Amino acid sequence: MLDILGTLERTHTCGELRQSHTGEQVVLMGWVAKKRDFGVFTFIDLRDREGVTQVVVSEETAAAAHAKAKNIRGEFVIAVKGEVVKRDEGAKNAKLSTGEIEVKVDELLVLNDAAVPPFQLEVAGSENLASEDTRLKYRYLDLRRPALQQNIITRAKAVRAIREYFDGRGFIEIETPILLKSTPEGARDFIVPSRIHTGKFFALPQSPQILKQITMIAGLDRYYQIARCFRDEDLRADRQPEFTQLDMEMSFVNREQVYREIEGMFNHVMRTVGGIELPETWPRMTYAEAMRRYGSDKPDLRFGMELIDLSDDLSDTDFAPFAEIIANGGEINCIVVKGRADYSRKQTDELQEFVKRYGAGALGWIKIGDEITSSLLKALGEEKIKQLIAAAEAETGDAVLIVAGKKSVVAASLGALRQEVARRENLIDRSKYECLIVTEFPMFEHDEETDAYIAAHHPFTSPMDEDLEMFKTAVNDPSEHHLLGNVRAKAYDAVINGYECAGGSIRIHQKEIQALNFKALGLSPEKARERFGFFLDALEYGTPPHGGFAAGIERTCMILCGTENIRDVMAFPKTASAQDLMMDSPGDVDASQLDELGIGVVGE
Ligand code: AMO
Repeated sequence: MLDILGTLERTHTCGELRQSHTGEQVVLMGWVAKKRDFGVFTFIDLRDREGVTQVVVSEETAAAAHAKAKNIRGEFVIAVKGEVVKRDEGAKNAKLSTGEIEVKVDELLVLNDAAVPPFQLEVAGSENLASEDTRLKYRYLDLRRPALQQNIITRAKAVRAIREYFDGRGFIEIETPILLKSTPEGARDFIVPSRIHTGKFFALPQSPQILKQITMIAGLDRYYQIARCFRDEDLRADRQPEFTQLDMEMSFVNREQVYREIEGMFNHVMRTVGGIELPETWPRMTYAEAMRRYGSDKPDLRFGMELIDLSDDLSDTDFAPFAEIIANGGEINCIVVKGRADYSRKQTDELQEFVKRYGAGALGWIKIGDEITSSLLKALGEEKIKQLIAAAEAETGDAVLIVAGKKSVVAASLGALRQEVARRENLIDRSKYECLIVTEFPMFEHDEETDAYIAAHHPFTSPMDEDLEMFKTAVNDPSEHHLLGNVRAKAYDAVINGYECAGGSIRIHQKEIQALNFKALGLSPEKARERFGFFLDALEYGTPPHGGFAAGIERTCMILCGTENIRDVMAFPKTASAQDLMMDSPGDVDASQLDELGIGVVGE
């Protein structure tokens, strides 16, 4: 029978029934999560999106239903009709929201059967789960797991709360196209060939950056969008090639006004979706201070263990490697791990391997046990080691971990080590939410390989007023080009618990400065015109001062859901190697499709 439901209508979800429903006739529909056979009784845990309800089928009172129940297995889709009954005291299940009742089945309808799932859905604890690849291949089954469903529901609530916030603040939602021209955010573009214009390509947006700026030029002040973004870049635990941003832009604003919207939006979302209270005004910290104290532009402030600079204390050292580093403008920094003077050789070796991944040459250590031991004792002598302990304010029982090298390497490796040690030592209070606005980012990053300066945020970010003259000098005077490295931008990030959840800037609204910036980035006027001519033109026609930010929806949901895996908050994510295992994409296309596009595949 095709219309298997007939006139049967579901009365409740599987998460809804309570003791107050006792005596009611109900119809539930869902998937068989578990079945237990006790001869004359069959117990079924029936699952849907809202929860699980225990239903019981008795051979004595419902023989036909009982006979059907005999043949069903996990993940069969069924409908049951019956009466809500109170469970005996001893049979109550406090773990289930419906655990005080069960449904005594009169009729049972098998709506569909199910093949045996390739992995077990109902497991206690995430460590017992099947491999992620298997689960991604059968994503529709993985998504039946209540934990994952909750994340997807949380995400929907977060997006709704974001819309609520911006609608309530007089912002307008504007959609911008997906088929676009390159929008630089520092990653590679995904490109789409045009059939009609053979040999030409669209690029998928890395963000709607240029278009949202153009909405400001168009006078559509206070724009927002839930925007899909596409970036072909190296993936990490918190990065996907395709992700979603809350993107916003406003005219006639200074940085503080944008910060207030960042705070306002996150505070509203965290409160309404997660019941999490964040401070009305978030702490601010300059990029320079964040790097100095935490070795990171997205410091996790749920624990201390700040970096301590030992360079001054070692300025007179005759230990050649350190002396050389200091002479070359490098640094020697440390962190103090409380109570870990008992680190074993194996453990310090592991930590050394860890920092090497970030470019550090070695990890020096001092352990302040009954006696002081140190990997640097021979090189520095006992007096110096004691001086370093005092400078680090380390105490008996502590371990001091030291990295020396180029400033950027010391920050990256010790910043990462700080986080790693906190994880290993369980120093992170998971019930805490520490947020921060990091300000005054550098305008440029120096690419050592090509000796070029690239935009640290994106090429439309305004320099700080204080650094404008330096910026102009650095662009116009080739001998002062290196000063670009010192120019700060009106760029900022929002950080929660060590995650960069949002980033933005005040934009360049004057065409002369924009032209200068393209020049700083090594774009010839012709190249700038070819790539961004439309935007340079737009800047000619009365551009208001403007700025904005974009927040990562996935990162925000990772915090709300308490997961460190971005795939846990996406319905259909890609693997770390940018594949969709369920659809098996990227895949091949027909030769005729390529012919139409005038494209041939060369080699592999
Ligand atoms: P940005 O590049 O900093 O800024 O991106 C904004 C936020 O988007 C999230 N994000 C990502 N999330 C998942 N996977 C990725 N690959 C990924 N890349 C970024 C982060 C990040 O903070 N146009 C500017 C915004 C602006 O200036 O207004 C931009 O896109 O949470």
